[in-house]
Amino acid sequence: MAVVPATTETLARAAALLREGQLVAFPTETVYGLGADAGNVQAVARLFAVKRRPAFDPLIVHLAAPAWVETVCQDVDVRARRLMAAFWPGPLTLVLPKRDTVPDLVTAGLPTVAVRMPAHPVALALISQAGRPIAAPSANPFGYLSPTTAEHVYAQLGEEVALILDGGPCPVGVESTILDLSGPEPELLRAGGVPVEELARVLGAPPRLPQESSDARPRAPGRLPHHYAPRTPLRLLPAGASLPPPAGKRVGLLAFRPPASLPRGYACLEVLSPRGDLQEAAANLFAALHRLDRAGLDLILAEPVPAEGLGRAINERLRKAAAS
Ligand code: TXA
Ligand code: MG
Repeated sequence: MAVVPATTETLARAAALLREGQLVAFPTETVYGLGADAGNVQAVARLFAVKRRPAFDPLIVHLAAPAWVETVCQDVDVRARRLMAAFWPGPLTLVLPKRDTVPDLVTAGLPTVAVRMPAHPVALALISQAGRPIAAPSANPFGYLSPTTAEHVYAQLGEEVALILDGGPCPVGVESTILDLSGPEPELLRAGGVPVEELARVLGAPPRLPQESSDARPRAPGRLPHHYAPRTPLRLLPAGASLPPPAGKRVGLLAFRPPASLPRGYACLEVLSPRGDLQEAAANLFAALHRLDRAGLDLILAEPVPAEGLGRAINERLRKAAAS
């Protein structure tokens, strides 16, 4: 295994590894992904094993061009075309009826497949040189914090990956928005990098927000109540409250913006956005949680961020990290 900067030479090597059925980690605009040839069942099986991911949790298939959608999906309707035109390449995943070309292992036996065209130049070059759709979950062990740097990937999955392409920190920092278009009404399965307000603008109405489900086989296991979690216990603070930390414990604070005065009693502080800006906060979210998780704390207390735009995606991840 090696972490290598993404260059013409290492991209060609990475694409060849993917074609041979190996696993390659690569940057996207959202988080780092762990890629495998979506048509190679052995490669996809290794992906599940390396991530310790339950087989009921389907993967997102990554495409290098909108036209590729026809090779993996059917019934690509006018809603899908409008959304692709507006947001691809970018952090929007669409769930559509699948073609038989997509192995059942990729979709966990579902009749639908999740697809997206990432906006990161390294991801696009890699997929296009591999010349085939690439299945890629976030490059972290199942349930743990997503990686937004090559170093996060190395620390978590190091020896199990053939190659890690380093393209610097991920600019968006939260995973893609997942929208299910397989039914009559668009349904939001995961808040993410494309704010729901922007989807509503293109769809003409906001998508349906599903009930939180605690099924053993949820349709988007990102919706399992406990996910995206650090190993250190995390609790959400009530909005606007600045509580003193519980006594006798090493506690870290995750704040949205710089506090007016440094709250006393905390062992460390991470500020998501010095500017008080949700985009900056999203880009810093997972790196801040990784640092807090390595700080030897007993507890992380997290402030919710304003529930608008990317703030919904941030709060959704904090809520899931807090659920136990
Ligand atoms: O931003 C992202 O989407 C990143 C980067 C690497 O592209 N990928 C990512 O993948 O977050 P992953 O595997 O960590 O999350 C994919 C989510 C899962 O919660 C899965 O259940 C859902 O997508 N999903 C995949 N296929 C689906 C389908 N056919 N129907 C419903 N949900 C699906
Ligand atoms: Mg994930």
